[in-house]
Amino acid sequence: MTRFDSVQRALRESPRTWLITGVAGFIGSNLLETLLELDQTVIGLDNFATGHRHNLDEVQTLVAPAQWDRFRFIEGDIRNLAECRHACAGVDLVLHQAALGSVPRSLEDPITTNATNIDGFLNMLVAARDAGAKRIVYAASSSTYGDHPGLPKQEAVIGNPLSPYAVTKVVNELYADVFARAYGLDSIGLRYFNVFGRRQDPNGAYAAVIPKWIAALIAGQDVFINGDGETSRDFCYIDNAVQANLLAATATDPQAANQVYNVAVGERTTLNDLYTQIHRHLLPRYPHLQGAQPRYRDFRPGDVRHSLADIAKAATRLGYAPTHRLDEGLQIALPWYSQHSA
Ligand SMILES: NC(=O)c1ccc[n+]([C@@H]2O[C@H](COP(=O)([O-])OP(=O)(O)OC[C@H]3O[C@@H](n4cnc5c(N)ncnc54)[C@H](O)[C@@H]3O)[C@@H](O)[C@H]2O)c1
Repeated sequence: MTRFDSVQRALRESPRTWLITGVAGFIGSNLLETLLELDQTVIGLDNFATGHRHNLDEVQTLVAPAQWDRFRFIEGDIRNLAECRHACAGVDLVLHQAALGSVPRSLEDPITTNATNIDGFLNMLVAARDAGAKRIVYAASSSTYGDHPGLPKQEAVIGNPLSPYAVTKVVNELYADVFARAYGLDSIGLRYFNVFGRRQDPNGAYAAVIPKWIAALIAGQDVFINGDGETSRDFCYIDNAVQANLLAATATDPQAANQVYNVAVGERTTLNDLYTQIHRHLLPRYPHLQGAQPRYRDFRPGDVRHSLADIAKAATRLGYAPTHRLDEGLQIALPWYSQHSA
């Protein structure tokens, strides 16, 4: 039995009350689905800035009615401290996902990204502290590695941030660390590396690469690769990220708390290879893709060139063991996108 199996069993036997911020988003709604399936009580906070009510509706169809009854949704904004306090009341564990993602969005509008990702984060720390939450697990980011060229990325060695978004995620870690020292607030940061899977939004100017390409290919539209396609990423299927959150929230080893962890697979894939894999999976179902080729354009400012995680720290201290590699995740995610494409 894996550590994650034992955690799930323990949670079923002794359910907790959780707060998920950003619950209507991609990662938040997947956390919601898993926690409700484990018979947990969940409060969700979201202002629908980038999340969608249809994500919540889909979770409702996937869990039993009695499980759905254990969910309470609060439409609110983490930039408002009173709303954060309201959401944190009576909560044991906080999974803080709410933020404005995307490097280009932060370059175009650094002020709104800063207000959400830093002011909102600080509000959540204060609210969680004052509500007596046992731990806050928060979404950190691989963008924190910035311009440091070393591979694989190890948690202790970071470079300079390359975008306002990356600055906000570095500041989150600094605040969490200070709240642990100054107030004893227990926290764990999870540096996600390019998470993908069901319910990741394929639409909009700031969509992530995997859902954007899948949607474009299915619709017969051009796929653009920024740069020469040799940029690489450690793509992490959503179930791995959900596992990391539950392990982090429930870890009892004192060495595990007040740390940051890479959450990825530990494998690097270039954008060219990613395109080939997605194309190969889609071709049998979409014959119009025969002979389709990506189009290349300029590198995008603020992007890190290569990304690959060392996941040893999460494995050792949290018992994290990714269950899905890129190809396995794509095999599950692609039919979902096919079913949900217009
Ligand atoms: N998806 C990835 O690959 C990835 C990688 C690194 C870090 N992250 C981080 O993980 C977290 C979740 O990302 P995601 O991919 O699920 O994105 P997402 O956009 O799908 O989800 C974010 C959610 O936060 C909500 N939100 C935004 N501003 C808010 C506010 N002011 N008040 C309340 N709710 C607000 C949005 O409406 C949305 O539902 C974010 O913190 C993101 O920075 C994601």
